[in-house]
Amino acid sequence: MADTMVDPILEVSGLVKHYPLTQGILIKKQIGAVKAVDGVDFVLGRGETLGIVGESGCGKSTVAKMLVNLERPTAGSIKYKGEDITRLSGRALKAVRRNIQMVFQDPYTSLNPRMTVGDIIGEPYEIHPEAAPKGDRRTRVRELLDVVGLNPEYINRYPHQFSGGQRQRIGIARGLALRPEVIVADEPVSALDVSVQAQVINLLDRLQNDFDLSYVFIAHDLSIVRHISDRVGVMYLGRIVEIGRDEEIYEHPTHPYTQALLSAVPVPDPEARERRERIILSGDVPSPTNIPSGCRFRTRCWKAEERCAVEVPVLAVPAVFRSVPGPAAHDSACHFAEEKQVVPPEQAAGEAPDGRADGRA
Ligand SMILES: Nc1ncnc2c1ncn2[C@@H]1O[C@H](COP(=O)(O)OP(=O)(O)OP(=O)(O)O)[C@@H](O)[C@H]1O
Ligand code: SF4
Ligand SMILES: [Mg+2]
Repeated sequence: MADTMVDPILEVSGLVKHYPLTQGILIKKQIGAVKAVDGVDFVLGRGETLGIVGESGCGKSTVAKMLVNLERPTAGSIKYKGEDITRLSGRALKAVRRNIQMVFQDPYTSLNPRMTVGDIIGEPYEIHPEAAPKGDRRTRVRELLDVVGLNPEYINRYPHQFSGGQRQRIGIARGLALRPEVIVADEPVSALDVSVQAQVINLLDRLQNDFDLSYVFIAHDLSIVRHISDRVGVMYLGRIVEIGRDEEIYEHPTHPYTQALLSAVPVPDPEARERRERIILSGDVPSPTNIPSGCRFRTRCWKAEERCAVEVPVLAVPAVFRSVPGPAAHDSACHFAEEKQVVPPEQAAGEAPDGRADGRA
């Protein structure tokens, strides 16, 4: 890895999740596997935000579920403060789970419509009663409502009485209830109107400072994670293909897939949009049951050569950049990695989506 992380809170290595593909009704026979996650490595530093970006189906949610232990990995390890949590069970696992919480994508389906907001936000205390004495819980929930920018008087209302942005605030409050150290946010703004996305991102940004949180922030669009991420990992078909600091990925991408994704991000300035090169990828993403040999991106890569079909590129600083320190020298899984500036520098500079302070969605 190119990054020297001072204080890692999560260390993920060789993470794999294969779902068996079976045939037959009475006698089930395994005929293959859906390779949803197929060898993911990354480190999350304390207080850091790591953005994970990739197209639909590339395995982002499966990674998220493994991080919060909603799914058991097929292989690999997830170390939380040095301890492999994939091997824990019982009380030890429960204690760790408290510290790693998830915020879900869809605020419309992730909140139980029959529960009041107070019960939703306070639900984690039922599972972890040691986190707050019974008599304190209502007060804690009111505080949490206030912290996420909602009126504490709304405690007895139901989810349908709130807008999408407000519901996501409720989801965030629930994620904060146990005072976790890590929040895995799986596309927390993707289901929201563009005007509301920035407000929720700004809220998450503020909470990170107030509560010393580390974030894994998942999105399918590079433009969404730019404002909030310190580092960004780009996923393709179950693997991270490029990872680096914000500036390295947006201004000095070296993997063709990242370059293609960047060429599709919205550029507000019409003149800059004209100058920007669009890279249109050919073909569809292959099925995760049938991953191409060698480089998994090769069936859509305009630079693919014979070597790409036989040799798996490792995620490391490419040889050409190893002796040249600079922003291009970051991990990229490509045999022919090359710097290519796709988005004009002034556009890649990383404005907040609408530049506003945290409003009340
Ligand atoms: N329980 C399961 N059984 C079989 N296949 C699964 C299961 N869960 C996910 N998959 C498959 O694994 C792959 C990765 O799914 P995942 O939901 O992690 O992708 P994603 O990157 O989060 O996509 P999206 O952007 O659409 O949310 C997909 O092909 C999906 O169909
Ligand atoms: S290894 Fe080959 S196919 Fe893969 S991204 Fe690089 S050039 Fe393209
Ligand atoms: Mg998903």
